[in-house]
Amino acid sequence: MPETEEIIRLENVFKIFGPQPRGRAFDLAAAGVGKDEVQRQCGHVVGLNDVSFSVRRGEIFVVMGLSGSGKSTAIRTVNKLHDVTHGQVIVDGIDVQQLAYKELQAFRRQKMGMVFQHFALFPHRNVIENVAYGLKVQKVPKPERYASALEALRLVGLDQYAQNATNELSGGMQQRVGLARALASDPDILLMDEAFSALDPLIRRQMQDELLAIQSELHKTILFITHDLNEALRIGDRVCIMKDGEIVQIGTPEEILTAPETGYVAEFVKDVDQGRVIKLAEIMSEVRPIRSDTKFDELLTAFSGRSGRFVVDESGNCIGFITRSDVERVGSLSSPSLSAAMRTDVPEAEASQTLNEVYADAGRGLPIAVLDNAGKLIGRVDPNEVLEELGRVEALADTFDHEVFM
Ligand SMILES: Nc1ncnc2c1ncn2[C@@H]1O[C@H](COP(=O)(O)OP(=O)(O)OP(=O)(O)O)[C@@H](O)[C@H]1O
Ligand SMILES: [Mg+2]
Repeated sequence: MPETEEIIRLENVFKIFGPQPRGRAFDLAAAGVGKDEVQRQCGHVVGLNDVSFSVRRGEIFVVMGLSGSGKSTAIRTVNKLHDVTHGQVIVDGIDVQQLAYKELQAFRRQKMGMVFQHFALFPHRNVIENVAYGLKVQKVPKPERYASALEALRLVGLDQYAQNATNELSGGMQQRVGLARALASDPDILLMDEAFSALDPLIRRQMQDELLAIQSELHKTILFITHDLNEALRIGDRVCIMKDGEIVQIGTPEEILTAPETGYVAEFVKDVDQGRVIKLAEIMSEVRPIRSDTKFDELLTAFSGRSGRFVVDESGNCIGFITRSDVERVGSLSSPSLSAAMRTDVPEAEASQTLNEVYADAGRGLPIAVLDNAGKLIGRVDPNEVLEELGRVEALADTFDHEVFM
C-alpha cells in the first residue's frame, strides 16, 4: 500500500448557495471576487471558492477554519451530501458527482463512515444495536454484524457497555459509540465533522489520543474537520486551513507552525502552544564532541568562544560536558585531568522529543545532549535556541501585521 496514493481529491471545487448558483455569483467568485463582495453584489453565499486538495490513503487530513469558512461544505462534497457548482470530486477513482440513488447509497455505505458532532444515537436501542445498525441496513446477518460491532466497540474501549442503553452513557462515551458505529463496517475512509467539539477539554484530549491509537492500528484515511487549531495540529498528518470558502494553506503541523504563508495563518499560530509539535531534531545543531581520552593539555585549545563541548566515550555515548572555564579552573590543580574538569549532570533528550518536553531542562542553562534511540550523541540544543524557537512564530505574526490580507 503506497503511502502517497491519493484517495480523495477535490479539484477546483466551487459551491455557491442561492437560487442561481451558476449565474453571476459563480462568475464573480471564479474571477477572484471574495465571499463578502459576492454576497453584497448578488445575494449568493460562496461556500467553496476554487478548493483543491488531495487526501492520501492512510493519513489524517484536517480541515481547520473559523465558523462559516466552508469546512462542512467541503466534507459534504466528498459523500455528495452537496452537489458542487463547479469542479470535480474524486474518491478512490470514482467521480462522486456522477453517482445517484442506489449507487450513491452503496458508495456511502461501503467507502466511508461518518462521525458528526450531533449525529444522534437511537435512544431506544442499546449500544451494540446502535453500532451494528449500519450493517443491519446492509443486510449483514446478525451474528456477523454483532461480531463486527463488538470489535468496533473494543477499538473505542466500550465493549463492556455493549448491552447498556445509550442514555446511560456520558457524552464522551456516546461520541465513542458514534465512532464505533462508523468503524463497524470497516470503511476505508472516515469523515469526521467536529466530532469532538462538544466534549469537555479533558475528554476531548482523551478522544484525540484514542483516535490516534485506533489509527495506528487501522490506518484509515481520515478527513477530520475542526475549528480548533490545537486539535488540528495534534492529530493531523496534514492540516488545511480555510477562510471564507478558500484554502489559505496546506501543510504538515510543523510547516504550518514554522512557515505560515499568510498573516492570517500566522495570527492563528500565535495562539498555539507550538512547543508541543516542534521536535528537537528540527532545531538541533551539529556536535563536535571531545573524546574522553583527550589529554588535558590539548583541552586548552579545544574551545572557541564561550560555548562548551560534550564529551563522549569511545563508542560515542555522551558522558559529560566541559567548558573552557572548567578547564581553567582545574588547570591549577596538581594533577589536572579531563574527568576532573567535566560535568556529568548533562541534560539528555531524544531527537523525537518536543521543545515542551525539554523546556525545564533548558532552564538549567546547560546545552541539551540530543541522543539517537541507541543512546549515541547526535546533536546539541542550546537553551536559548529552545526559547528562541518558542517565541519565533509570535514574531513572525508581527511581521505580517501590516499586510493587506489581514
Ligand atoms: N444549505 C446552505 N444554504 C445556504 N448557505 C449555506 C448552506 N450551508 C452552508 N452555507 C453557507 O456556506 C458557508 C460555509 O458554511 P459551512 O457550514 O461549510 O461552514 P463551517 O466552516 O462548517 O462552519 P461551522 O464551524 O460553523 O460548522 C457559510 O457562509 C454558510 O452560511
Ligand atoms: Mg461546520
